[in-house]
Amino acid sequence: MLRLITSQQFLMRIVTALVPAAGLIASASYAQSPSTSLKSGESVYQSVCMHCHTQAIDGAPKFGDKKIWAPLIEEGQAILTGHAWVGVRKMPPKGGKADLSQEEFARAVAFMARAAGGDWTDPDADMMKKIRHEEEKRLKDLKNGKD
Ligand code: HEC
Repeated sequence: MLRLITSQQFLMRIVTALVPAAGLIASASYAQSPSTSLKSGESVYQSVCMHCHTQAIDGAPKFGDKKIWAPLIEEGQAILTGHAWVGVRKMPPKGGKADLSQEEFARAVAFMARAAGGDWTDPDADMMKKIRHEEEKRLKDLKNGKD
């Protein structure tokens, strides 16, 4: 009998120790839900785009170079983002990162535009719709052999 109580108490200790841990896991997965887990443009830039765009590899528009970026910014956020997402010559689709979300990609483009004097902000739902529209147009043009 005494032995049984002891092991029950032991079990209770384990449960008591696990409850806060379970709470932590639950809040961690909550933090990763889609609406809150989007990376900032800066962090996407650093992890995905910087490699090519800091050093202008293969003619990539150099980060922070206002002269090079002016005509790109002129194209407008929806068109430039939509086209870059599809891929332009040696610019790989999605920046070469297959699991990057389009919204995170768009944030990175906006971050790069801002670094070169543009005033683009993280896209809202309306801008994302325009970007997808430009993406579709671009894909159609490419399919029809237009560049
Ligand atoms: C493997 C190298 C490489 C990586 C990685 C890369 N880029 Fe590029 N990017 C290029 C090159 C090269 C060009 C120039 C394409 C051209 O005009 O020939 C370019 C062009 C662009 C343009 C201009 C497109 C246009 O219509 O002229 C944008 C915007 C852009 N990149 C954004 C990004 C973003 C955002 C990322 C990261 C998510 C990224 N790039 C990652 C190589 C890269």
